[in-house]
Amino acid sequence: MTSNVFTKLLGAFFFLLALQMLVVELVFHRIWERTAVDAQGLLGRDLLWSALVGLAIALPAAAWISRRVAARLRRVLQFARRIAGGDLNARIQVAGEDELTQVEAALNQTAERLGRNFAEMESGRAELAVMLDSMQEGVVAITSSGAVRWSNAVMQRIAGTQLIAGRPLVHFIRDPELLACVRGALERNVLSVGRASVLAPGRIFEVNAAPLPAGGALVVLHDVTSIEAAQKSRREFVANVSHELRTPLTSIQGYVETLIEDPNPNSETTLEFLGIILKNASRMKRLTEDLLALASVESPDYKLKLQPVRASVLLRDAMDYVGGRFVDSGVGLQSTGAPDALVMADPDAMHQVFGNLLENALKYAKTGKRIQISARPLASEVQFTIQDFGPGIASEHLDRIFERFYRVDKARSRESGGTGLGLAIVKHIVQAHGGRIWAESELGNGASFHFTLPQAPMADQP
Ligand SMILES: Nc1ncnc2c1ncn2[C@@H]1O[C@H](COP(=O)(O)OP(=O)(O)OP(=O)(O)O)[C@@H](O)[C@H]1O
Ligand SMILES: [Mg+2]
Repeated sequence: MTSNVFTKLLGAFFFLLALQMLVVELVFHRIWERTAVDAQGLLGRDLLWSALVGLAIALPAAAWISRRVAARLRRVLQFARRIAGGDLNARIQVAGEDELTQVEAALNQTAERLGRNFAEMESGRAELAVMLDSMQEGVVAITSSGAVRWSNAVMQRIAGTQLIAGRPLVHFIRDPELLACVRGALERNVLSVGRASVLAPGRIFEVNAAPLPAGGALVVLHDVTSIEAAQKSRREFVANVSHELRTPLTSIQGYVETLIEDPNPNSETTLEFLGIILKNASRMKRLTEDLLALASVESPDYKLKLQPVRASVLLRDAMDYVGGRFVDSGVGLQSTGAPDALVMADPDAMHQVFGNLLENALKYAKTGKRIQISARPLASEVQFTIQDFGPGIASEHLDRIFERFYRVDKARSRESGGTGLGLAIVKHIVQAHGGRIWAESELGNGASFHFTLPQAPMADQP
């Protein structure tokens, strides 16, 4: 049976009433017995006594009961205040079966459930923070008034400063395109997309600012520097290829049209024109072959057949490979220093590397009359050098000559049949071997092309 506080108080009241009646009954019994003596005086005095005795018993009892109830209510109130203050680990001791006990138990349950929910929310928040920090994108949430609400670690790195919550975003970020995008999302309440190019030097970001349902906006920054660079390089490549193909094609078309339209063809002119057409066709064939070679070495599927080869053997093969052409040109080809060290190399790919470098030396440095080819061992690599004594290359071109289609003197290079792809192919092959390639030169003092190949592991050494 469940009793409640009211029943308890009612019970106490009836108990006191019964006690009072018992006292009155006892006193009246005595009164009746003594009525004959002094009926009026006795009745008045005994009634007063009975009332005083009843009060003397009832008052402390009532005070005790109300103090107990008040003390429990105070405990419940204190407990409720602790929970309201955020102390969700607080619990109240539950004893008994009345309604106050039920209130205590319900409050305990509420505190427990709140604690659980709060812990779940906290762990969810922590997970979200880790997720946001591990993202490649910079993320910042802003309030409807444009103040920073929170931001992830990437965003702080991009901005180069800590984005303090509560401060206006404009205090930390000055990129006008990004700020315009954020304003768009806040004012028009629609997804606003833009491109930030002055936020971090040399980097370009795609900006997405999305309005949040409860006001404010979420701004996401995606680094598109490499994508844009790749797109630019592809556009330039297509433009270059088209240009390189159009020049010989226009020439071929022009000469063919002239030949067709000539009513009295002269065999000498015809032969001359056909010679020009053949030269242009060969040039186009060379260009397509170089393009195919470049596409092959740039492809992720490009596989080298690496094997341990002596550096001296690579040098000797290279000389045999181009030797004939040097004899015809009258330029001397010497090999100096050929270490026995073993390198990991694909001999066919090495023919392409030496072929291109020696052909360049022959093409652009013929005036030097001699070309040296050598190798020297380094700590874990072997460095190969092709040195000529021709006109050399101005320092501003030294890094760029390894770019596709880059030629120091376009007209001259085209005249000599060059497409500007040779060194780009060579660079890819050397890098695919795990090596490095660079050029050194002083105008008028010839040029040296160096590249390295990794030495074969000890297990492969004889
Ligand atoms: N030994 C050298 N001396 C002077 N300039 C050179 C030398 N080697 C290369 N160059 C310069 O570097 C440019 C790029 O060389 P690369 O081999 O890539 O192209 P190319 O020789 O013009 O054409 P390709 O090799 O594709 O037929 C050349 O056009 C030339 O201007
Ligand atoms: Mg070349």
